[in-house]
Amino acid sequence: MAVWLLFAVLSCVLLPDPVFGITRHYTLEIKMHNVTRLCHTKSLVSVNGQFPGPKLIAREGDQLLIKVVNHVPNNISIHWHGIRQLRSGWADGPAYITQCPIQTGQSYVYNYTIVGQRGTLFYHAHISWLRATVYGPIIILPKRGVLYPFPKPHKEVPMIFGEWFNADPEAIIRQATKTGGGPNVSDAYTINGLPGPLYNCSAKDTFRLRVKPGKTYLLRLINAALNDELFFSIANHTVTVVEADAIYVKPFETDTVLIAPGQTTNLLLKTKPSYPSASFLMTARPYATGQGTFDNSTVAGVLEYEQPKHARRSSIKNLPLFTPVLPALNDTNFAAKFSNKLRSLNSKRFPANVPLKVDRKFFFTVGLGTTPCNHKNNQTCQGPTNTTMFAASISNISFTMPTKALLQSHYSGQSNGVYSPNFPWNPVVPFNYTGTPPNNTMVSTGTNVMVLRYNTSVELVMQDTSILGAESHPLHLHGFNFFVVGQGFGNFDPNKDPKNFNLVDPIERNTVGVPSGGWAAIRFLADNPGVWFMHCHLEVHTSWGLRMAWLVLDGDKPDQKLLPPPADLPKC
Ligand code: C2O
Repeated sequence: MAVWLLFAVLSCVLLPDPVFGITRHYTLEIKMHNVTRLCHTKSLVSVNGQFPGPKLIAREGDQLLIKVVNHVPNNISIHWHGIRQLRSGWADGPAYITQCPIQTGQSYVYNYTIVGQRGTLFYHAHISWLRATVYGPIIILPKRGVLYPFPKPHKEVPMIFGEWFNADPEAIIRQATKTGGGPNVSDAYTINGLPGPLYNCSAKDTFRLRVKPGKTYLLRLINAALNDELFFSIANHTVTVVEADAIYVKPFETDTVLIAPGQTTNLLLKTKPSYPSASFLMTARPYATGQGTFDNSTVAGVLEYEQPKHARRSSIKNLPLFTPVLPALNDTNFAAKFSNKLRSLNSKRFPANVPLKVDRKFFFTVGLGTTPCNHKNNQTCQGPTNTTMFAASISNISFTMPTKALLQSHYSGQSNGVYSPNFPWNPVVPFNYTGTPPNNTMVSTGTNVMVLRYNTSVELVMQDTSILGAESHPLHLHGFNFFVVGQGFGNFDPNKDPKNFNLVDPIERNTVGVPSGGWAAIRFLADNPGVWFMHCHLEVHTSWGLRMAWLVLDGDKPDQKLLPPPADLPKC
């Protein structure tokens, strides 16, 4: 480690103008690690004996070589959520999509270069429910000498939200898959792994942010929770949103932020001009729209001001503590208003390159459904009825995970029997998506991918359905950022709604909350050859099948082709 550090330092000193980035080496050891929260001690899968995992820091343009070593009994795979992975799909990470998982005792070096991105992202395990404990921040700084398009913060603070389960999350999803019912919900939310004072036996596990008056702090919010969108607010402070999903946005002020799993949001927090003689809770709790049960608890951290030196040392415990007021748990009105405020910065330096012409238009439904109970193991079915299990789908296809990685199968020309290249461009059986649900709610199953030629300009409308209840779904696309050109409630109207699309400064991101009982329209340019997973970032919905993949073919030019696979690519 010391050697590469020395090398990194030297290369910065010796090269006067590192326009080209440097190479950064990291090693992530996946190990079991004892952690106690809420008076429950358990051995969990984590990174380098830390929970959450260590933060990775790089600059735009840097190459990352991240060696992931698996020391746990589970198969492992790590996804660098939001990294574009231009031509380096082998390093994307979703198990059985771009790679076979890393088996016990094995390792794999994820090798990629960060091109044209800067901001906050995160990494997480991408197999089963292991991301419940295997996650950490990725901080991408601008190139050396390049400024933020906002005042330089005094300090930068990652705040990563997670979910704590007293039980083993792997056992929870195993059980749910067996019974067909909804999985047990978490016992707490966490900020940087800490649930905070509003839970039993948790006061000592509180995230504290110590600040000085009259300064600006950059809070790098990351939602790494498994199954919950979150509202976040700081008592008696407003914040300025400056970035989302590693894209600068038009700054706007707000008291409350909504952040879905898979999303990141950078906030500027301007502290009070003078010592306020008070402390302030920073709280988060869910925005939940579905009919299932959810963890409705509240995580809290504390914003503490440093006492002025001359002040009498009064105990910080005696200071008044203010609590923020968060929107109601189902405040869809707030959600719609908040997402409407998010606009690309669209400046000269950071233009919004919205595809203006569209080559292919797609319409997918996203939502829940049912599948017949497997009565072979003579078990009571705990799905929505006693003969059905919960399922979820895109355009009524509940995606079956292959047992071989899609990208390898494609690259080696052995896709037969692994996937079908025929994902439907619109639902095979149309219905009134947000009206009274159809009688038959059974999903079909398959490993269907949508094939795109290189550089296809895509418009995709994702329509929520009311089957088993309308629900907001944070849809995440690997390998691309997309522009959210429109959204609305009810059924998408292909004649009227496109007239209101924002093609000037729509938000650019990698995860969009499809409104509950509504739709979202996105555009992206398929300029990255490879196989790219798209799924709901509510892990329970992914497990139920709300997932699919895009296959983007190579272009003609040499620099438009997927690079060959690395020699240490794991085998299935
Ligand atoms: Cu952060 Cu495929 O996920």
